[in-house]
Formats: sequence, structure tokens, C-alpha cells
Amino acid sequence: MSTMEAAVYAHPAPPQIEGANFLNLIIVDDERAIRDVCKEVAQTLGFNTFVADSAEHAYRLLDPQGIDVVLLDLKLPGAGGIEALHQIKARRPDAVVIVVTGYGTVHSAVQAMKNGAYDYVTKPFSMDELRLLLDRVANHLKLKTENRILREKIKSKQGFGSIVGRAPEMERLYRIIAKAAHSSHPVLVLGESGTGKEMVARSIHFSGPFRDKPFIPVDCGSLVPTLIESELFGYVKGAFTGAMQSKDGLLAIAEGGTVFLDEIGEMPVDLQAKLLRAIQEKEIRPVGSTKRIPINVRILAATNRDLEQAVAQGTFRRDLYFRLNVLTLRIPPLRERRQDIPLLAAYFLERMGRNSNQERELSDEALKIMLAYDWPGNVRELENCLERACALSTGPVIQIADLPSSIHGVGPAPSNGESSSKIVPMAELEKQTILSTITQLNGDKLLAARLLGIGKTTLYRKLKEYASQE
Ligand SMILES: Nc1ncnc2c1ncn2[C@@H]1O[C@H](COP(=O)(O)OP(=O)(O)OP(=O)(O)O)[C@@H](O)[C@H]1O
Ligand SMILES: [Mg+2]
Repeated sequence: MSTMEAAVYAHPAPPQIEGANFLNLIIVDDERAIRDVCKEVAQTLGFNTFVADSAEHAYRLLDPQGIDVVLLDLKLPGAGGIEALHQIKARRPDAVVIVVTGYGTVHSAVQAMKNGAYDYVTKPFSMDELRLLLDRVANHLKLKTENRILREKIKSKQGFGSIVGRAPEMERLYRIIAKAAHSSHPVLVLGESGTGKEMVARSIHFSGPFRDKPFIPVDCGSLVPTLIESELFGYVKGAFTGAMQSKDGLLAIAEGGTVFLDEIGEMPVDLQAKLLRAIQEKEIRPVGSTKRIPINVRILAATNRDLEQAVAQGTFRRDLYFRLNVLTLRIPPLRERRQDIPLLAAYFLERMGRNSNQERELSDEALKIMLAYDWPGNVRELENCLERACALSTGPVIQIADLPSSIHGVGPAPSNGESSSKIVPMAELEKQTILSTITQLNGDKLLAARLLGIGKTTLYRKLKEYASQE
């Protein structure tokens, strides 16, 4: 049969099984009788069916037709079935390939399975046998798709549905988030480190009408000042050494969406003036350029600093403060909403259990201690504490001993007698802990912040403070 004759049949038959509908299947066989039988079975199951009488013909159909399932004869003329299997897998790695082998050649089927085939069927086979096999493939693919959709859903679940907390202050917060989401005014999110400022900012963006537009976080605490400027406003080629090409600023790239200025309190004063102008005039001037570019972007900002105090001290511009402060959201620290601790713990344990396939719960004593603790690193510290406890606990119940010593107050004994009597200020202890953790981790600041239960911006800010003390 010529290639033309073996052309594509695309008859979407009435679906017989849930799942096969919309799946594209190709039968690759040089025997017309086999193609016909397979086609009939596949169509009655609801597959969109295509046929090819050679491997080359099949390759040409794989991508354009979006083939999901391949029924491949291993005894094809030419290079042979195993080579065809390789080619098909290379072109469409996700395609499910079922190989068809002759009687007495099971070893080639085994070889095919080792090379990525999903299953095999031996000739001669009955229609029932094929039906069962295709049914299984359809279910397998359906499950795979469902899992993918679920994963995407979880990833993009940014609405305030994922903010956990039932304390009255949190309920109030949700109401303000809902309102803020539908306005385009700047919002200032205040809260201690780890209280969920970024989470709240994401909720405002993703529950609003411009959720399909970009949400771009800019961490003003960890970027050097010149970089914040060139990131936000962009630059033109040759604006400074290394500016080989022009680059658009994030305020322009976010067009129609949101720029989240995290740790705005760390922004240098001269940049604050530039930002204020950009917000007021709705345009920016890239570094090294004389041209102004219009912008259409919503500004959300967050800080764990006391901005009013910073204004009083002259490190934060009053006019920018008022501009950003149109709407303020204050997230209460965890110690002021202790009733949320069991809820948050259950939420994190459930999520961690799902990821590791090991269910965990807190012993009554462990929960009691967690309820009494002050959580200076707030929700992030709670999350890290549970992550660590899950890794340490040997059984399904997390005990006090699985919690960090900082929480149950039993620390390692001092290494020498002297230090037990020496009083060290908290700030100094904190400095020593931070610096020694970074040294122990060979300078990995991100990991240090994670293990210490503080945000990376907090860590960078503290390091800056230590540097300025020297
Ligand atoms: N109410 C909450 N429900 C569920 N998870 C939360 C909640 N609040 C915070 N988290 C989690 O705690 C961690 C810290 O949150 P986030 O980064 O938003 O805090 P932050 O205030 O921006 O912290 P930092 O000031 O250190 O940057 C994240 O992993 C976040 O998912
Ligand atoms: Mg943050």
C-alpha cells in the first residue's frame, strides 16, 4: 500500500470509555488487516485514530497530530521496530508506546520495554485483549493529566484561600485583601519577618482583576542600590560598564500587573525620590536615557521596619511614605494570634505528609510547648520548625525532643564553665549565631536563613548592620 493510501483516518468515534476521548492513537503496521482491526477497536473505545504503514510515515504524523498512543509493530520493514521505538520516544517522550510482537519473539518485547515501551501484545491477539490493553492506557493517561492539572492548580493557588488563620485579626485582613484586590492604589503591607507579607501581596494580585498580568517581586533588601535602580527602571546600552544591551525595567515589564517592592524600607533615599516620581507621573526614565517611558503598573510594598520611625529619622521620604500608605495592611505577629498555631501546624504537617507520604501529628506536649513559644520568626519559623521535626522524628508522632532547643528552652550545655556565668546581650548572641551558622555552611546565606528560621532579607539586613558596626 502506498503512503498516500495509508493516509490518515481521523474519525472521532462516539466515546465508549471515559478518558479515551480526545486521545490520539496511531497504528504503525505494514499489514493492512492488522491496521484495520486495531483501528476498529481503538475507534470504538473513543480514540482519534491514525494509521501508518511505515515508521517514516508515523514520524511525520507524531507532532502535527499530537499523538498520545502508538501501537507499534516491532517487525517493520527497514530499520526495524526497536529503532522506530527510539525515534518515536525521541520525538515524543510522553507518548505511550505499545509494541506488537510476533509469537515466539517475546525477548524483543522485553527489549522494547527496557527501551521505554509501556506494554506489549503478542500476535495473534484477540480484540478483547487489545480492548483491555487500550482501556488501561486510556486510564493511565487520564490519571497523568489529572495529576498534572492538580499540580498546576496547587502551584497557582495564590488566592487568600491558601492563607491559613482564623483569628479575628486575620479575618479582618481577608476582608481588606478582598477590597484591595479590586482597587489599583498602592498598598503597604506591614508585619514582622515571616508573618506572610509576600503571601498577602500575592493574594492581593492574584485575587484581583489583573491576575493574568505579571506579578513581579523585587527584593530591595538584598539588591545593591545601583542594581535596584537598573532593575526597576531599566537601562540603555552603554549606560554603564557592562551594559552591553538595553534592558527594560521591571516597572515597564509588569505592564498592567503588579510590582511588589519587598523590604521597601531598605531602598536608598535618592532612589525613593525616583520611585515617587515614577508613581506620580506614571512614567520612568531608564538609566542612561533621556526618554521617558509610560508605565501602567500597580505598586505593592512591604517592610518589617517601622517606616514612621524611619521617616522621623530622615531615612525614608515622607512624601513616598504617604504615597504608598494609601492602604495599609498590618499582619499581626504569630504570638498575638496563638489560636492559629494548631491550625497552621496541622496545615503544614498535612502538606509535608503529602509530599513525603508519611503522616505526622503533634503530641499534646509538643503542641503545648509550641503554643507557649513566642515565635520571633513567625509563621516561617513555625514552618521550618515542623520541617525539621518531620525529618528528625522516627515515628508518626512528633515529640518535644524533635523540636529545636530554642523552642523548648533546653539548649546544649555551655562548652566551658566561664561562659555560663557571663551575661551576653541578646543582639550579640544573635550576631554570633548568624555569623557562625554562615561559617558552618561555608557561606551559604540562603541556607543559613532557612535553618535559622528568618527571611533572607532579614539576614541580609542584619549582615549589613554588622558590617556598618565594624
Ligand atoms: N497565614 C499563613 N498561612 C500559611 N502559610 C503562611 C502564612 N503566613 C506565612 N506563611 C508561610 O510562611 C513563609 C513566610 O511567608 P512570607 O515569605 O510571605 O513572609 P514575609 O513576611 O514576607 O517574611 P520576610 O519578612 O522574612 O520576608 C512562607 O513559606 C509562607 O508560605
Ligand atoms: Mg518577604
